[in-house]
Amino acid sequence: MDDLVRENIKKLKPYSSARSEYRGEAEVFLDANENSYGSPVVLTIPDEKGPGAQLHRYPDPLQWQLKKELSKVKGVPPQNIFVGNGSDEVIDIAFRIFCEPGKDNVIVCPPTYGMYRVCADINDVEAKEILLTDDFQLDVEGILAAIDKNTKLIFICSPNNPTGNNMNRLDIEVLLNNFHGIILIDEAYINFSNQKPFLQELTEYENLVVMHTLSKAWGLAALRLGLGFASEKIIDLFNKVKPPYNINQSSQQLGLHALLSLKEVNINIKKTVEQRDWVSTELRRFKFIKKIFPSDSNFILVEVDDADKIYQYLLLQRIIVRNRTKEPLCKNCIRITIGTTEENKKLIKALENYA
Ligand SMILES: Cc1ncc(COP(=O)(O)O)c(C=O)c1O
Repeated sequence: MDDLVRENIKKLKPYSSARSEYRGEAEVFLDANENSYGSPVVLTIPDEKGPGAQLHRYPDPLQWQLKKELSKVKGVPPQNIFVGNGSDEVIDIAFRIFCEPGKDNVIVCPPTYGMYRVCADINDVEAKEILLTDDFQLDVEGILAAIDKNTKLIFICSPNNPTGNNMNRLDIEVLLNNFHGIILIDEAYINFSNQKPFLQELTEYENLVVMHTLSKAWGLAALRLGLGFASEKIIDLFNKVKPPYNINQSSQQLGLHALLSLKEVNINIKKTVEQRDWVSTELRRFKFIKKIFPSDSNFILVEVDDADKIYQYLLLQRIIVRNRTKEPLCKNCIRITIGTTEENKKLIKALENYA
């Protein structure tokens, strides 16, 4: 593991914040130059009584309460969890820990989530693109052949955005067993999938990072809570590099509150999956729909006769879908997020009037 980490990160003396230096019970906090007179607003959590959140105090830099609750839900110990300001922060920090700008490279497998490449570009790291196969699976041989001594990260998105399908588990295991860099499996959509997450494997593979998010199944995109699960060694590196208070107090508290509402979340997942089937069935009626790709996510990729035309038509009906026609292997494809029952009905009705 040590030889994968950038020299400057190995040597880094992380910022020591007032709240990370102090542990224990105190009465008077005069250590962090906060405003002791309070804040003009109070954060109150629905259904919770009490004084509300202390917004004039810096939040817990390591979000232990949130991690303890996440630990119960995910079955991963708190010290193996990193919380990022969205998954995008997890991705960016991985680059900053492991990739030497202008020298190292990573492997991404398009068509896939665009931020892997954008983060590579921002960090001046080459992104080698090994396209998925025609059935949207990993080209394992191509990936293995592309690895060189400077390859530090491989990004695998499963279920994949925008194709919607799971990657074959055995292919991922082959890569885990044959690559000595870090494999990041982005499971943002795992709650909509039949596949089980790669979390149990964390004890087996020291070079595995699994990413989840509270933005999708948990319905908390606005809070920006992305999760990284990995060995303690990797989590310590993430904590060393992250901004001291990367998760604000309201996100920590509201996230914690949501984690206690598992039942409601599961109901919404069930509705989404049912609606995914309904929308897929309805779409089959239309001649201009050429192919509906099977989905394990909360969206469907659909091949149509003319993606630009349908996209523009729906826009006029005030319905926005994602035109993916410019993505490799996605010519004339649009990606449709599964909406509420009403929204989905509107979409199908609009398509009925499309000539
Ligand atoms: C595969 C994938 N990973 C991560 C994200 C972003 O997640 P977050 O909201 O946690 O940054 C998305 C958002 O669409 C996504 O499709």
